Amino acid sequence: MHDTQVKVIDETRQGEALDMPGNQTGKKLFLESYGCQMNFSDSEIVASILMENGYTTTRNFEGADVILVNTCSIRENAEQRVRKRLTQFNQSKKTNPSLKIGILGCMAERLKKNLLEEEKLVDLVVGPDAYRDLPQLLEETETGQKAVNVLLSREETYAEITPVRLDGNGVTSFISITRGCDNMCSFCVVPFTRGRERSRDPQTIVHEAKYLFQEGYREVTLLGQNVDSYRWNINSKGEIKDESKPTVNFAQLMEMVAKVHPDLRVRFSTSHPKDMTDEVFEVMARYDNICNYIHLPVQSGNSEVLKKMNRGYTREWYLDRISSMRKHIPDVGISTDVITGFCSETDAEHNDTISLMETVKFDFAYMFKYSERPKTLAERKYEDDIPEDVKSVRLREIIDLQMQHCHESNQRDLGKTFKVLVEGTSKKSDEQMKGRNSQNKMCVFPKGDFNKGDYVMVKITDCTAATLLGEVTEIVSKRA
Ligand code: SAH
Ligand code: SF4
Ligand code: F3S
Repeated sequence: MHDTQVKVIDETRQGEALDMPGNQTGKKLFLESYGCQMNFSDSEIVASILMENGYTTTRNFEGADVILVNTCSIRENAEQRVRKRLTQFNQSKKTNPSLKIGILGCMAERLKKNLLEEEKLVDLVVGPDAYRDLPQLLEETETGQKAVNVLLSREETYAEITPVRLDGNGVTSFISITRGCDNMCSFCVVPFTRGRERSRDPQTIVHEAKYLFQEGYREVTLLGQNVDSYRWNINSKGEIKDESKPTVNFAQLMEMVAKVHPDLRVRFSTSHPKDMTDEVFEVMARYDNICNYIHLPVQSGNSEVLKKMNRGYTREWYLDRISSMRKHIPDVGISTDVITGFCSETDAEHNDTISLMETVKFDFAYMFKYSERPKTLAERKYEDDIPEDVKSVRLREIIDLQMQHCHESNQRDLGKTFKVLVEGTSKKSDEQMKGRNSQNKMCVFPKGDFNKGDYVMVKITDCTAATLLGEVTEIVSKRA
């Protein structure tokens, strides 16, 4: 089986250098991002802020004046990889002594000054809520000083900043709708690196979606650590903050974005089982342009383990959400995240995860070994006592099972016809184009009289583990 369908990964996306448009004057910036979609979306904000201040980018770090690395702390090996990369970047200082190296994102927030003082890896440390300060901080480093801003904010959403779309396909894009997370899952470092949850003004979100549509984009993904807890003008008790203004919850926000244009597809990530309401499913079912796909991390199939993880739901609750979803949207594609080897997980508890996977049969899954993170509830309260080899065996077991389910899921699609948004030429061959169906599966089909940004109907004739293969039966609409 192809290994991209079932990913065992340390971050959702691994280090990618980003290139951005702009005239080639001013200081040259090399910007590299790790971690989740939120981090990649943040890098677009960073790029926007620095371009406003005269920076241009380079794809070649050896020629850069400034190297910024936007980092992830979710698992220990995510951080190890960045340390190695920083050491490599530091070599360039031998030939270019004025080179400045900065660390952004979650590792910057977690390790703060340690990165300057103990590890001596960087000149600049900037946390996720301090990017507006970057030009000034970079200026401070010019005189040989070190610069730090890791203040977290309760308000910052970068709401009015138009992100510079980096290295994209010009068809699909992200829009951040919330920042931070208030959930405190016991294994997770995100609440410490991203701070308190806050929602972005819905008008700025709709405005960004409209702008993207005008620029030729045909799909937006609304991003948040827990999109279901999006709320505007409502406090955590459900009370209205300002009677003179409208209130907006996630289902309503999604509807507002879906109304921007029927040809603008809407996706969202990540959903949280404890907060995912039927109202969300109802809106999804009502709008053709809201994709029939949900990423709903389960983490474990055992209620005791879920309790220790502080996830706020039981196995039964999760399964109820799945059946309600399938009732409202019969052809919905579902993916998940699973952690194996959490503190004191028994064989029987692990088997509950397996049986849940067998019951749901996810179309796709991201699977990880538990990695203890400093300061988290689990680190303080429980022992990370499952031996590495046991974690590995359990992980292998669920990966093998998921590979089987991915295969079955793709087999079920043979002979079906899907509406696909064309994203570009296929990686493997210039003669093939690719795009996703509503359920988020990548489809590959021969080139024809259509371009990226167009919608086509694709009849599925074959599949690999990772991709559906087919032919275009109809061009539905062309991008103007
Ligand atoms: N906000 C999202 C995802 C956050 S991180 C959510 O609530 O699901 C993405 C995934 O990384 C998580 O779903 C979880 O499966 C995994 N993860 C987070 N912390 C981890 C840790 N300490 N060890 C292993 N996996 C972890
Ligand atoms: Fe982490 Fe839980 Fe928040 Fe997701 S919901 S970011 S797993 S604390
Ligand atoms: Fe990683 Fe931070 Fe995202 S820890 S997963 S980059 S929020």
